[in-house]
Amino acid sequence: MTPQTAILEPISDHARHLFFDLQPAVNPRSALRALAAACDGSSAVLGIGATIVDTLRVKLPGLRGFPDLPDARPPIPATQHALWLWLRGSEPGDLLLQGHALEALAAPAFTRVQAIDCFRHRDSRDLTGYEDGTENPKDEAAVEAAIAQGRGVGVDGSSCAAVQQWLHDFPVFDAMPRSEQDACFGRERDSNEELDDAPESAHVKRTAQEDFEPEAFVVRRSMPWVEGADAGLVFLAFGKSFDAYEAQLRRMTGHDDGISDALFGFTRPLTGGYYWCPPLGATRIDLQTLGL
Ligand code: HEM
Repeated sequence: MTPQTAILEPISDHARHLFFDLQPAVNPRSALRALAAACDGSSAVLGIGATIVDTLRVKLPGLRGFPDLPDARPPIPATQHALWLWLRGSEPGDLLLQGHALEALAAPAFTRVQAIDCFRHRDSRDLTGYEDGTENPKDEAAVEAAIAQGRGVGVDGSSCAAVQQWLHDFPVFDAMPRSEQDACFGRERDSNEELDDAPESAHVKRTAQEDFEPEAFVVRRSMPWVEGADAGLVFLAFGKSFDAYEAQLRRMTGHDDGISDALFGFTRPLTGGYYWCPPLGATRIDLQTLGL
């Protein structure tokens, strides 16, 4: 039971997210085999969307598309794709070239439809200046939260990734006094201390992992992105299923008690997808659950 190792490692200096759609009436098997051999789970993580499982007519309990939340305000877009690759490294040019090689292996069955370059900002901060990842479970607790166990060969060691690109409105955020910015997150920016008097809308109150029933722990590996004048965060969370993330997202949108997350005052998601990250086998990513 070996997970793709990047899931349990700290974020890299740079990363590149690639999203692929499956061409109609094309057999994806040989492309998937090639990608499983080329992705090492450390410099390249492979994630499978529900479309692939449907196309191959195999069963993978728990894998589903990104949820439709029709009543959420602001809207939470679902932009599910067939395949996701998360490339990690120290230099963006190398990631671009590594991506080209993987895109060639994925073609012609899969076409790349989106690419997002990410980077680590200071000591793993969001571009608003707040440290991101503080309450991530560590060591055994991270494995327990993010990695499937006791579910059978081919599934054990796998992980469910939720990926969302968020766009920040910096003029709105910058116009807030620091106390209001701190209240949005529920933490003091520079010390990273939790506020004793954080409002119920504070992000850390909306998502407090131990406050869910059952508890909703995930391992977050989010990183900032910049493209021209636009910038924000690629939110990335790994769970043993999608349930913990989905419970957090619903509470952020006010689904449980009518209170929306204060983050929505200055940022909103542009995309959202769910991807199943198979375990690592002895020599390649293990796709036996897909019959490959
Ligand atoms: C632009 C979007 C987001 C930003 C800038 C952001 C930023 C942050 C920051 C600064 C923290 C506090 C430090 C920490 O524990 O990491 C935090 C905590 C957290 N965030 Fe987010 N976040 C975003 C979106 C989300 C989303 C979409 C989810 C899940 C649906 C989420 C789940 C969590 C969780 C689980 C915690 C830890 C809560 C706890 O147990 O204390 N975040 N986030």
